[in-house]
This record gives sequence, structure tokens and C-alpha cells, in this order.
Amino acid sequence: MPPMPRQRGVGGALLQNPALAARVRRAYNVGMFDFDMTPDRAGTGSLKWDRYKGRDVIPLWVADMDFRSPPAVIEALLARAEHGVFGYTIPHDEPVQEVRAYLKRRHGIEARAEWLVWLPGLVPALNLLCRAFGSPGDAVMTCTPVYPPFLSAPVFQERKRIAVPLRLDGEVWQFDWDAMEKAVSPETRLFILCHPHNPVGRVWPRAELERLLAFCERHNLILVSDEIHCDLILDDVPWTPALALGERAAARAITLHAPSKTYNLPGLACAYAVIPDDGLRTTFLRACRGIITEINAFGYAGCAAAYRHGEPWRTALLDYLRANRNLVYSFIREHIPAIRLAPMEATYLAWLDMRELKLDHPHRFFEEAGVGLSNGVDFGAPGFLRLNFGCPRARLLTALERMAIAVMRP
Ligand SMILES: Cc1ncc(COP(=O)(O)O)c(C=O)c1O
Repeated sequence: MPPMPRQRGVGGALLQNPALAARVRRAYNVGMFDFDMTPDRAGTGSLKWDRYKGRDVIPLWVADMDFRSPPAVIEALLARAEHGVFGYTIPHDEPVQEVRAYLKRRHGIEARAEWLVWLPGLVPALNLLCRAFGSPGDAVMTCTPVYPPFLSAPVFQERKRIAVPLRLDGEVWQFDWDAMEKAVSPETRLFILCHPHNPVGRVWPRAELERLLAFCERHNLILVSDEIHCDLILDDVPWTPALALGERAAARAITLHAPSKTYNLPGLACAYAVIPDDGLRTTFLRACRGIITEINAFGYAGCAAAYRHGEPWRTALLDYLRANRNLVYSFIREHIPAIRLAPMEATYLAWLDMRELKLDHPHRFFEEAGVGLSNGVDFGAPGFLRLNFGCPRARLLTALERMAIAVMRP
């Protein structure tokens, strides 16, 4: 087993506690960063697995991974549990400083503590943003295919939804600028960007972001950039966060973040928005009043530990995910070439174009073959399916084999 890294903070104190460190090591039993061995999630209330409870269907749908979180996160949660008092918890120094250090390190942003708005998740943030700006009947724009809450939030909050399809230019997903210009209306208040993009896996280049910022300025839109997947970039492509575009961006951009996708913590319900502009932040906070209260004490502990100590684990994870992605590419090209798959630069989500297979119900077809995927209909793209490859490779291979056998069946 590789040696446990030395750590500081709450987690670090625990590593000085041999009994607790041994417990964490035992919990891993096969090595610290072993992504091939994952615990059985039955009986843990797993959204992903319980959908197919009692059925032989491999769940490769909702975006959580089957891997254990980094040891430092588990250790920090154990330390928090051992304290034993779980009172209301405010954004305190440890998570706030870790997030600020992370934003500086990863995004080059010197965020003031007051720019951070802590949230129990980004789905509530998307909804509250739609509600905070403008009035019922105003519009919110995004580009499809996209993570389904981008499409439901405007509707839930009594806004018009303007969904402009992305364009597949050869093998590269692109904004359709002409279509966006035609679709935008004077009532449009927000543009919601997914960066990197779920589900197409695109990391938007700086030039495209600059053009999007200019588009938002021209039409007086607030740019909401959901950057939850930004630490899952698999290719050697530059990462430009929206707020790195300078003062013009700081005046109209709100970025959304969480450690939950990268470190597999969505059940800890801890996320945050970064809002440099005082006016935008005040309006957003007003929409949160009475709805967003204190967030989870364990969420703060997991978040701080992940950012502070999680880098060796994240690096190993990216290697594992890259190999899984390459398996998806090569298996599909070789055995199910009718499925089209554009190269994806980021996330553990593959976006599969099933249209050539001419299936009436692609989602149901593969479910009946024993593989549970996400339905493209929910992303605004019928005929597509999304496959989550954040799972042990052997399980991924079994799922791909099931899919190939189903497609070959006469
Ligand atoms: C782009 C994007 N935003 C937000 C979320 C969900 O965020 P949360 O679990 O914090 O509500 C997801 C989950 O898959 C996502 O892909």
C-alpha cells in the first residue's frame, strides 16, 4: 500500500492518531487509491443504484462515481463525527480559507470571503438564480444538450426557456452564434453556461468565452457559469474560468462550484457560488432569504479536506478516468460503430449518439439489455444517451459488452 501522505488541519491531526489512521487504512484494505475495488452501495440509499434494486441492470446514469472519496476526506468526516456536537454551522475559517486557496491555485482568482455564497447544492442555485433576476415571464437562455436542471429551472421559476442547440462541427461541439442572436429577446436576463460542458465534455476555449461575454454584454445578460466539472479535465487543454476574463466578467458573471463531482461528495450537499459584484450578490442573497439556511457541518469538513489534501487522489482518479474513457472510445469504435461519439475533453460522462441504430426507445432498449444510462430526451436531445464511466473498469467493460450484444442481436 502506498504510504499515507502527511497532512495538516483537522484531517492532519487525525493522522497523528494511530488508531483512527489504522481504521481509515482498514476501511480501504486494498490500498489507498484503488479504483478497481468499490464497496457495495446496496442499503445506503443510493439514488444511482436503488433505481435498479433487485434487477440485473448496471447503473451508469446519474453523475456520481462508485469510488470511495479520498482517504483525507473520510478521515476529516470521522474527526468531525468524533467531536460529537452537530450544531448549526456557519461558513467558518477552515472551509472559507480552503476554498479561497483553491480559487487562487486553480482559477487564478483572488476571491474575497464575502464573494462566496455557500449552498446545499447547485440545483437550488440554478433555480434561485432564475428567480432572483427579472420577473415572471422573462427569459433564461442556455444551449442544448445540457444537464437537465438547466432546462427545468427556468420553467419551475416561471421564466421562458430559450434553449439553443449546440452545433456539431465535424467532431467538435460549438456554440451556434447565429441561432443565439436570433433567439435572444429583450426579456432575456440570464445565460447559463456549462463549463466544462455536461454532457458533451467540451472545455470552452478562451476565445469562445470572450465571445460569449461580449454576447452577454450586448444583450445585457448575467453570465452564470457552472464550473462544477472543471477539475475533471482529461485532456491537455487550457482551462479558462469565466472570472479569469477580467473586470468585465466580474461585473456580470456568477460562477458555480462544488467539490462534489471531483471528489465524489454529492451526498454531503456542499456547494458555493462566487459572485464578485456587490449588486448581483445582494440580489441573489435576497432570493435565498428563508430558503437557504445553514448548510451541513459534514459538507464543510469534506470540502475543506478535499481541497486541502485531495490532489494526489485527484491525479490518480484522472489517470483512471482517462483509461476508462479510452476504453469507451475504442470499444464503441470497434464493436458498436453505429454509435457516434465525439471526443470529450472532460468529465466522466460520455455522450452517445444512437440515432443510426434507429431504435424506438434507446433508453429502454439498453435498460432491457442490463445497462441503465441517462436519457438524452431529458437533456433536450432525443436519440442520445449519456454513459457515466466513473466506475470500476471491469464493470464498465461488462456494460459495454452487454450493449454490443444487444445491438448485434437479430
Ligand atoms: C453541470 C452540473 N451542475 C450541477 C450539478 C449538480 O449539483 P448539486 O449536486 O450540487 O446540486 C451537476 C450534477 O451532475 C452537474 O453536472
